[in-house]
Amino acid sequence: MKLHLLSLPLLFFFFFLTLSHGLNPKCSIPDRGSTLQVFHVFSPCSPFRPSKPVSWEENVLQMQAKDQARLQFLSSLVAGKSVVPIASGRQIIQSPTYIVRAKIGTPAQTMLMAMDTSNDAAWVPCTGCVGCGSTVFNTARSSSFKPVGCQAAQCKQVPNPTCGGTTCSFNLTYGSSTVAANLSQDNITLATDSIFRYTFGCIAKATGSSVPPQGLLGLGRGPLSLLSQTQNLYQSTFSYCLPSFKSVNFAGSLRLGPIGQPKRIKYTPLLKNPRRSSLYYVNLMAIRVGRKVVDIPPTAFAFNPTTGSGTIIDSGTVFTRLVTPAYIAVRDEFRKRVGRNLTVTTLGGFDTCYSVPIVAPTITLMFSGMNVTLPQDNLLIHSTAGSITCLAMAAAPDNVNSVLNVIANMQQQNHRFLFDVPNSRLGVAREPCS
Ligand SMILES: *[C@@H]1O[C@H](CO)[C@@H](O)[C@H](O)[C@H]1NC(C)=O
Ligand SMILES: *[C@@H]1O[C@H](CO)[C@@H](O)[C@H](O)[C@H]1NC(C)=O
Ligand SMILES: *[C@@H]1O[C@H](CO)[C@@H](O)[C@H](O)[C@H]1NC(C)=O
Ligand SMILES: *[C@@H]1O[C@H](CO)[C@@H](O)[C@H](O)[C@H]1NC(C)=O
Ligand SMILES: *[C@@H]1O[C@H](CO)[C@@H](O)[C@H](O)[C@H]1NC(C)=O
Repeated sequence: MKLHLLSLPLLFFFFFLTLSHGLNPKCSIPDRGSTLQVFHVFSPCSPFRPSKPVSWEENVLQMQAKDQARLQFLSSLVAGKSVVPIASGRQIIQSPTYIVRAKIGTPAQTMLMAMDTSNDAAWVPCTGCVGCGSTVFNTARSSSFKPVGCQAAQCKQVPNPTCGGTTCSFNLTYGSSTVAANLSQDNITLATDSIFRYTFGCIAKATGSSVPPQGLLGLGRGPLSLLSQTQNLYQSTFSYCLPSFKSVNFAGSLRLGPIGQPKRIKYTPLLKNPRRSSLYYVNLMAIRVGRKVVDIPPTAFAFNPTTGSGTIIDSGTVFTRLVTPAYIAVRDEFRKRVGRNLTVTTLGGFDTCYSVPIVAPTITLMFSGMNVTLPQDNLLIHSTAGSITCLAMAAAPDNVNSVLNVIANMQQQNHRFLFDVPNSRLGVAREPCS
């Protein structure tokens, strides 16, 4: 990656807010009903925010490096291969982008778990974990904690199961990390809903830097997912609104179950890839820049369960990635509309940056049955002083067999995404939640 060197010590806007010492009263508001507050990892409510301000360039590069590992991970999933991606040499701050509060055990222990729509399982670091952070779930202090035995049906649903004594253990790769965990059960409380004997992984050993420090809440739809374990309660339905990282209020929401979901919302069908049942594929058909539908070969978006190609909605990737021919077409039209005479610079993996204020066109994602027009806030990242602006999208990494388009979280902010699995559809509506 080439770094376009900038002379000014620019700070990315949200690092200003880290100076507010977490005094935001919103942080202590309890979750109600079946709705959880969603925090950005850099919000004042997050213990994972960087303690020292990081330069804007460094921050962008770190987010991109993290995305790179995630893209490789998602690509390895669709290819059906178990590839441990090469971690970047750069220190990657944190893997997850958005976190929610979950209470586990009796008495309850609070963990700030990362939301991940592209994974099924939930796992938390447990006492004795090698390679985890300082906040772990203390299994000995929970009277309702139980390891899951090797003979249990759930043990057949985890990747690479082994039998450690009588306990079902398994290994998996996540981003640039490897995780060894014991399959376990305990009560988990989400907002005010208690789920008895929830099955999750208790992390015993972790390597690499992609493992979310206090665990992962998988919102995929495979056999061991939250959705599968709470059929009666949530009926495989949830929605979220992700707050923008530049907002001062910082809390979006994750609403579980069919109650309270928006009625007026546009839908596109969810597609199912039997080889990767947890991923939320949709049919992206075309992209409009301003009023122009750009010329993209249909193969760039074609859904193919065998190769894994197509488009997924992912909560864990920060910047949208399109396969190269699609990205080039979008980017060229974007540049043309911004102004042919303006000098285009690069910043890390972004190749369309400007050092003068610009008027950008909207970009419309045209899904089957639904157009989603993204305003500037979902398309551009600005340095604090406003002197650098970049189009916040990129081509899929070319060092992997990239066939996957990923609609990422920066492009989802301030929209409600409704996952209606029983009706196989995804709803999207604008909703300012920052
Ligand atoms: C956890 O589950 C056990 C039964 O397995 C129950 O007796 C206990 O009250 C539950 N605790 C909480 C905090 O819900
Ligand atoms: C899982 O990981 C542990 C610890 O790294 C290792 O000892 C074990 O052999 C691994 N098991 C499998 C099935 O790969
Ligand atoms: C995992 O299970 C093994 C075998 O039962 C046990 O020795 C180990 O302490 C457990 N680790 C954690 C973190 O629960
Ligand atoms: C672009 O530059 C050319 C030549 O320098 C000039 O004639 C033209 O007016 C400029 N166009 C715009 C839109 O600024
Ligand atoms: C999306 O926009 C295009 C025009 O660019 C229009 O032809 C199409 O009908 C729209 N689709 C929906 C579902 O509104």
